[in-house]
Order: sequence, then C-alpha cells, then structure tokens
Amino acid sequence: MLEEKILVIDYGSQYTQLIARRVRENNAFCEVHHSEYLNDHSNFNNVIGIILSGGPNSVSKNNDYDLPDNLFKKNIPILGICFGMQLICKKFNGKVKKTSSGEYGKASLEIIKNVKILEGLEKYLEVWMSHGDSVVELPKDFSSIATTNTEGFSAIKADNQEIYGIQFHPEVTHTLDSGKIISNFVKNICCSRGGWTTKNIIEQQVSRIKEKVKDDHVILGLSGGVDSSVAAAIIHQAIKKKLTCIFIDNGLLRLNEKEQVKEGFKDFKNINIIYVDASNIFLERLKNVFDPEEKRKIIGKTFIDVFQQEAKKIKNAKWLAQGTIYPDVIESAASSDQAHLIKSHHNVGGLPKDMELRLLEPLRELFKDEVRKLGVELGLDKKLINRHPFPGPGLAVRILGEVKKDYADILRQADNIFIEMLHERNLYNKISQAFTVFMPVKSVGVTGDGRTYGNVVSLRAVKTIDFMTAKPFEFPFSFLEEVSTKIINNVPGISRVCLDISSKPPATIEWE
Ligand code: XMP
Repeated sequence: MLEEKILVIDYGSQYTQLIARRVRENNAFCEVHHSEYLNDHSNFNNVIGIILSGGPNSVSKNNDYDLPDNLFKKNIPILGICFGMQLICKKFNGKVKKTSSGEYGKASLEIIKNVKILEGLEKYLEVWMSHGDSVVELPKDFSSIATTNTEGFSAIKADNQEIYGIQFHPEVTHTLDSGKIISNFVKNICCSRGGWTTKNIIEQQVSRIKEKVKDDHVILGLSGGVDSSVAAAIIHQAIKKKLTCIFIDNGLLRLNEKEQVKEGFKDFKNINIIYVDASNIFLERLKNVFDPEEKRKIIGKTFIDVFQQEAKKIKNAKWLAQGTIYPDVIESAASSDQAHLIKSHHNVGGLPKDMELRLLEPLRELFKDEVRKLGVELGLDKKLINRHPFPGPGLAVRILGEVKKDYADILRQADNIFIEMLHERNLYNKISQAFTVFMPVKSVGVTGDGRTYGNVVSLRAVKTIDFMTAKPFEFPFSFLEEVSTKIINNVPGISRVCLDISSKPPATIEWE
C-alpha cells in the first residue's frame, strides 16, 4: 500500500522541503534526493511522479545541468518548478535565457488551456514568482497553458506526455491556488492512491520495528521534546516492555519537566521510563565554565557518560532509538553529500560510540508536522506534543556565563510564570518559541522601605517558520506589564524584567 512514492529532486531551492511537505499533505509518500539520483534507473521502481525543484543556478549560464535520458524512459509524470521547468526546456531543445528584469514577487496568471494540472482553478490566479532566467522559446511539442503576459513562458505542458513546467512557485502560500496545483499533480496526474496517512504510517512503522528488533531490547534517551517522545510512543506500541526510556535530569531542565513527561505518557500502560537525577554531576562539571561552546561540549559529553552508565544496566540492549526526523536527514545529506549520514540528535548528545548499539530511527522519514500528528494518534498528551523546542543544553545557554544551581532555580520559576501566562492568554500557540533568559548582573529595586539588589531576566518570544530567521513576537503592552509584575513579585532574587526585541539575523534566538 505504502510502496508508491514521488521523488522531489533538489536543485538547491530554499523551498525543496516545502514541496515535499505539500506532496505529503496529499497523503502521498515522497523522498527528497540530489540530482545524481536520477542517473540510476533502478531508483525509479515504485516511483509514480517526479518533481524537479527550483534552484539558484542558471541553465543559460552553466551547461553542466542536464536531465538524464533515463528520466523519460518510463513515462513517469514530471513536474518542473522554476529551475526545474528550465531544465525540461533545455532537455527538449527549447530556449532559456536571462530576461531583462526577471519576475519577483506577486504576478497575475491567466489560464489559457484547460489541462489536468490547472483543474479547479479560476481563469486568473495570483502566483509567486522568483526568477531571473526565462523560457523564451518552447521546445517542439510543448504548449503554453498559462501566462503572466510578460516575456517568457509561465506554465507549459508536453503535448503527448505528462510533463509539466511551471515558472512560479505553487508550493508557497503566496500562490493562491489553495494547494490545487500540487494536489492535481499528485492525485490526478500521478494517480496516487493516498496511502500515506497517519494510521498507515503507524501500522507500517510498528511492523518494521517488530521485524527489526525481534527479541532484543531497545533503549531511548527521552528528553521530553516532541521527537524523542513520539519515537518512544511508537516503539512502545511495537515492542511494549522491550523498550526502556532513560530520562536524565541534568539540572538544566524547565520547571516540572519530569512531571510533564509523566503526564504526557499517562495513557501508556507499563512503559518503562527510568528517571535519573544527574543534576549534581552536570552542575559540578560546569563550575567556572563561562564559554557557551565549552558548556555545550561538557553537557554533551556528560550526557553520554550518564546515559552509558544507565544503559549498561539494561540486559540484552542491542538497539539505541533516536528521534531523528526527515529534515535532519535531508540537511545532513546536503551538508555532507552522504545520503545516509546521521546528524547526531541534539537532545541525546550523539551516539555513544563504543556501545555497539544499532540505531533505530522510526521517525527518519517524517516531517515535524507529521511527527506531531503521529504523537496525537498514538495517545500522547497534546500539551507535550505542542511544546516549543527546547535546546539540548537547556537552561545552560539561557544563563549567561557560569551556570549555578541558584540561577537555574530562579530562571525556572520566572520562565514558568511567563509560559503559563502565555497559555492562559492563548498566546502560546501563536508563538514559535518563548523563554526567559537569566542575566548575572545586579540591579537595584525597592521593596517596602528597603533597597534590594536582584538579578535581571529577559523575556524572549519569536515567530519563525524554519528557525533560520525569526521576528520578535508583538505583545500587547498590558500583557508585558502583567508578566513583569508577576515575576518580580513571585520570584525572590529578581529585580527587573526586560524584553528582547531583536530579530534573527543579526541576533540569534537563544542568547548564547
Ligand atoms: P539560534 O539560537 O541558533 O537557535 O537562533 C535556533 C534554534 O536552535 C535551538 N538551539 C539549540 N538546540 N542544542 C539544541 O538542541 C543547541 O545547542 C542549540 N542552540 C540553539 C534554539 O532553541 C532554536 O530553536
């Protein structure tokens, strides 16, 4: 059922992952690959469609880019987007050249031919363009199907084959087709059977896990984050007691983290979770360390030490489970050019090398939104599933400079007040990441008749899609005033609350 797939070939577009997600939203499985993948004919087994992404390169300037003949032998439907369309034109001897102004931003598309890919759309459609090169002469046996009435073709189709080229970006929400173009390609042109559903993914993964693991035992570092929690949930569904989760308290977690994990897994009967309080070891090793990268390294290494010690106690443990998700796989393949290199999962600090455990990564093929859906279907608490990301080194990168237990205790309380108020006012889900930062400086305050010197905390809340760029969230002023008062009144040791209004770039989301 799930074997059919669509390939998304990545030519370096910033939207490649988005294209893949849009395909998956139509319940079709798809994989992202580099262009070399097209050279091997055997890779086309079970492929029902191929999408060629956009990219920063130029067909007119650089002749290295070409599509292999292989691609066209099996009559698999092809959709080229932007650079992808230009590649198709080059292959079939059309003409691509740099046009005087290019097209960037919104454009009005007029549909001129009634074809499958444009089915269900009105005659005029607002689309998103971003290209310098254009197709200025159509290849033989291709027709124009829609136009923005500027120089160059906007959408084309091969007359006798399911090969389409689209100059604009149907994958972004600025193209107002309500997802119809990609949906038409997936459902009407590739004829996907729509087997990629949460229920089917769970069934497939559960049977794969059972088959792989057999009677062995699996261990998993549970951080309380979405990915490791969902990985635990699905492995538990497959092998029940043969899974042991290890939750390590490094002294740098948020308030009541352990309780939240317990609450999150309350419906999982008999799940083995070992809670290890290793806060003293972590805090001891972090004494007198001021450098953020040094702090990260110490925390990563200590995590492995503690994890390894606990794992040794589990008999017959042959597998280490990790919550690696598809963007991690794509990113590490892109940066290393090795499709199977695994990015060490932040929150488990990398794989303990000498443990000789085999890796089990049930979420390797899934995007974050799919992981969340799986979590809900598996019965994890919604609050756990929808939590903002929390960095592996935890509060250590939110306490500037040296980490001390007192500072962490103060920060935990202040942060909890902030986050709880965001939930109360229905703001939490409108924000991508929110937290509080501790500054080891003293500032004066007046309480009653006396002057006190307390520390300063800063609130940080950002909106972002990919965490590569971010904007500060705009709070109503009354909300800020209220949080500030509540924190100062309830957390001894804090005299002032500030707000971080920096964007990323030039700032980053975390403070260290
Ligand atoms: P920055 O601060 O780089 O953060 O803008 C981008 C995203 O990455 C998270 N982050 C980390 N996550 N280990 C992690 O697991 C880290 O060392 C780390 N540093 C930053 C940050 O919380 C944000 O979501």
